[in-house]
Amino acid sequence: MRSVALSLLVLLGAAQANILLPYQMPDELIQLMAFREQPQNAAISVCNDIQFNYCQTHFNQFFGMDDSISWRNGSYIFNTVQNYLMMNVTELVKVCNTRTQFYQCLGSSYYPCMNLYTLLNKPQPDFSNAFDYVRTFRGLEWMCVGGFSEVVAQWSCLGTFPTTKAYQNCIGNFNQTVSAANFCPAVAQTGVCLNDAYNDACGPAGAGYFGCENFRITFDNSCWGLRCMVDPQ
Ligand SMILES: *[C@@H]1O[C@H](CO)[C@@H](O)[C@H](O)[C@H]1NC(C)=O
Ligand SMILES: *[C@@H]1O[C@H](CO)[C@@H](O)[C@H](O)[C@H]1NC(C)=O
Ligand SMILES: *[C@@H]1O[C@H](CO)[C@@H](O)[C@H](O)[C@H]1NC(C)=O
Repeated sequence: MRSVALSLLVLLGAAQANILLPYQMPDELIQLMAFREQPQNAAISVCNDIQFNYCQTHFNQFFGMDDSISWRNGSYIFNTVQNYLMMNVTELVKVCNTRTQFYQCLGSSYYPCMNLYTLLNKPQPDFSNAFDYVRTFRGLEWMCVGGFSEVVAQWSCLGTFPTTKAYQNCIGNFNQTVSAANFCPAVAQTGVCLNDAYNDACGPAGAGYFGCENFRITFDNSCWGLRCMVDPQ
């Protein structure tokens, strides 16, 4: 009985492990983000739909996702990518290679397509799917580029951290305090909270910065100029 309970816990732990951060945002804040992400120069930043679909299909193939899966299935993509990231470091590296191909495939369409303003201006958008879609790719951008050596070195601890009380405290506090009136201050405060909590759990060196950026990058286009601090070592 005891061993059954223990292996159940292990299974649950594995199922809950997350490198992409699990939390939810209400539609009105997703809409606020979209408004703040409106491209400044619409003429040169165009998301080419044909190219977008083509590159998405190619991305989907690595994960065994159907060709029809698009940004409209953002939550499904988030969960699928998350499952691959949590298998092992080898799979994470493959996901990063797939992400690089997607980035290169889209070229100058990449940032205009990975944009809440662009997506929510398409017919009948679903807010939480669009949000999960962009934060999947922003999360991948962080862990596969700037945060890559940290995530490879500390994959297990960084992936398990979001199952801890310390993570839930930071995100729960964000959930309670964030509003349209204090959106970016709440993001900044949560980044600091995660910095300290990741350092406590997975430190020293790099873990706190990784955790703060892993959260902040989702808000890179809606809270301009926010930065995470590299801890003095
Ligand atoms: C993907 O999204 C479309 C449009 O919302 C929906 O019809 C379809 O069932 C979704 N597919 C999956 C696998 O969730
Ligand atoms: C990583 O996980 C995949 C899928 O479970 C498995 O096929 C592969 O053997 C694992 N690789 C390593 C190095 O553990
Ligand atoms: C707070 O969390 C609940 C439950 O996950 C979610 O429905 C809600 O959108 C969140 N609110 C904010 C402001 O993050």
